[in-house]
Amino acid sequence: MSVKPSVLTGDPVRITIDKEKCIECHRCLDACPLIRFAGFASLEDQFVGYICLQCGGCMAVCPQGAISVSGLPPARPAGEVPSGDEVLNLIKVRRSVRAFRDQKIKQEDWDRLLEAVRYSPVGHNSQYVDVMIIESPEVLKEISRVSMDFWKKTTMFINKPILRRIFRKMLGDHAFNVFSKVAPFYEQQKALFEQGLDPILFNAPAVMLFLAPGAEAMGKAEADMAAHTVALYAPALGLGTCYSGIVMVLFSSSNAAIKKAVQIPQGYKVYSALIVGYPKHARGFIPYRRERNVYRV
Ligand SMILES: Cc1cc2nc3c(=O)[nH]c(=O)nc-3n(C[C@H](O)[C@H](O)[C@H](O)COP(=O)(O)O)c2cc1C
Repeated sequence: MSVKPSVLTGDPVRITIDKEKCIECHRCLDACPLIRFAGFASLEDQFVGYICLQCGGCMAVCPQGAISVSGLPPARPAGEVPSGDEVLNLIKVRRSVRAFRDQKIKQEDWDRLLEAVRYSPVGHNSQYVDVMIIESPEVLKEISRVSMDFWKKTTMFINKPILRRIFRKMLGDHAFNVFSKVAPFYEQQKALFEQGLDPILFNAPAVMLFLAPGAEAMGKAEADMAAHTVALYAPALGLGTCYSGIVMVLFSSSNAAIKKAVQIPQGYKVYSALIVGYPKHARGFIPYRRERNVYRV
């Protein structure tokens, strides 16, 4: 049987089970996203030659550490999982932050955020979401300037009934809806911008753009997952974030000024944008959120 190439590297994949260690519990078969569907009975013998995603699900679940997958380093022991209360509290204390200390993000904090991106959920273990970190004060300023300009133009289109329909077609429903919501605030935000305030990036020290190949169907979902993983983790590092719909829509438009200001790798699209920095103010309270309707079937 021929050995099929890895979806990650293109190299042939081989799964090896250390027979001395294996206790034939078959947990690896339960964990594998493919083998049950393929109806195989043994991970090693029949799997070699099938399409392995190299997700390491089999390695994660093997109580004996008996499995190795070519192309993957040995799996590391999993640490303790924090308590449900701690995780729920982390979810609840995350707030959108719009005032930051004038302080660059420490490299050790970047390293941890990027580690979180590595482990955020993806479809078929694709791992193609990449990150662009923007810290250059000039480029950050330019993003705010271009965003304000874009906001002005879109507001003009949205406020003119004849142009609205054409604009909706040009921008697509998603971006049109985003800008319809923010159009009423343009004049007020413009006044702040003219006073030297930054209503777009809030003078934050950094922006993270989450990129995926434009041709990938799940790119947007995976980039959003990565951005949210970072947003959730950030408060645990003393960092704050704010998702920027305005910046995200600007990047997904055909705006030439933003393409000039930030060069995105060929074939990639910006699917998610997070403003990042150390918050100026602590958040000691959790505001109310409505209980959701739940439909059970
Ligand atoms: C998809 C999305 C787009 C957003 N766009 C912006 C934005 O452009 N500017 C901004 O200040 N906040 C933006 N936010 C933050 C929301 O305003 C914020 O999440 C919401 O008010 C709830 O507050 P919380 O994040 O503190 O719970 C965005 C959030 C999401 C999820």
